[in-house]
Amino acid sequence: MKLTQEQIEAYEDLGYITLDGLFSREEAALMKSRLPALYRMDRDEVIKEKSGVVRTVFAAHTFDDVFARVARHPRLIEPARELLGSDVYMHQFKINAKAAFNGDVWQWHQDFGTWHEDDGMPNPRAMNVAVFLDDVNEFNGPLMFIPRSHKNGRIEAGHDRTTTSYPLWTLDNDKVAALVEDGGIVAPKGKAGTVLIFQSTLVHASAPNLSPWDRNTLYVTTNSVDNAIQKFQRPDYIAHRDFTPIQTLDDNCLEELMKAVA
Ligand code: SIN
Ligand code: MN
Repeated sequence: MKLTQEQIEAYEDLGYITLDGLFSREEAALMKSRLPALYRMDRDEVIKEKSGVVRTVFAAHTFDDVFARVARHPRLIEPARELLGSDVYMHQFKINAKAAFNGDVWQWHQDFGTWHEDDGMPNPRAMNVAVFLDDVNEFNGPLMFIPRSHKNGRIEAGHDRTTTSYPLWTLDNDKVAALVEDGGIVAPKGKAGTVLIFQSTLVHASAPNLSPWDRNTLYVTTNSVDNAIQKFQRPDYIAHRDFTPIQTLDDNCLEELMKAVA
């Protein structure tokens, strides 16, 4: 799959692109069908909110056969290779539940802040490719981006270990206010199957989900094979140590699975 010149320019300028309906409703439904079983698992990869509901499941591609395919899907990996100009490996693979009524906040941050501080990632040559597993609307805690904020490079951040159940390097309010003054805030919405690709230095956050609708999102974090991490202090299910280039599967790899179970 190749991005258009317009999409590449938007990614460079705004720091993100939205690919509406890149996965079909059926493909998104197949991915979503695996979540109840994952969320019931009693394993370290399953992180709970303070309320007790699931916040995040890490590394599901290592123990679920649908997500093993998603992690090698050409519609996710080829754009990452194209935008980074190199082969890529999987730095992190996670599903954020953002459960109806209970899904907690993600504070304002840059992903590269955490990957650099905690994992020793040398340069911002990684990116998040997010897949909506539910329809995302203005009420169920959509991701919020500050367009063009990635152009500031890595911004000083503080380590917040208390606000939520998951530690994160976050920006202070004055800095966020100044960035928003320049760039505003956008919250891309879309139906299940939509994909968002965003730069690792793009400042983003999401509000709690007070709506009755879940907002499950899958994040594939690809990193350039030339930019492997150098610190190994977080568990390997959060910051992977396998720097092998991802070998993509065929574009119909999820459809094949649907046929096999039909
Ligand atoms: C993240 O920033 O890693 C997740 C944000 C979200 O899912 O709202
Ligand atoms: Mn993030």
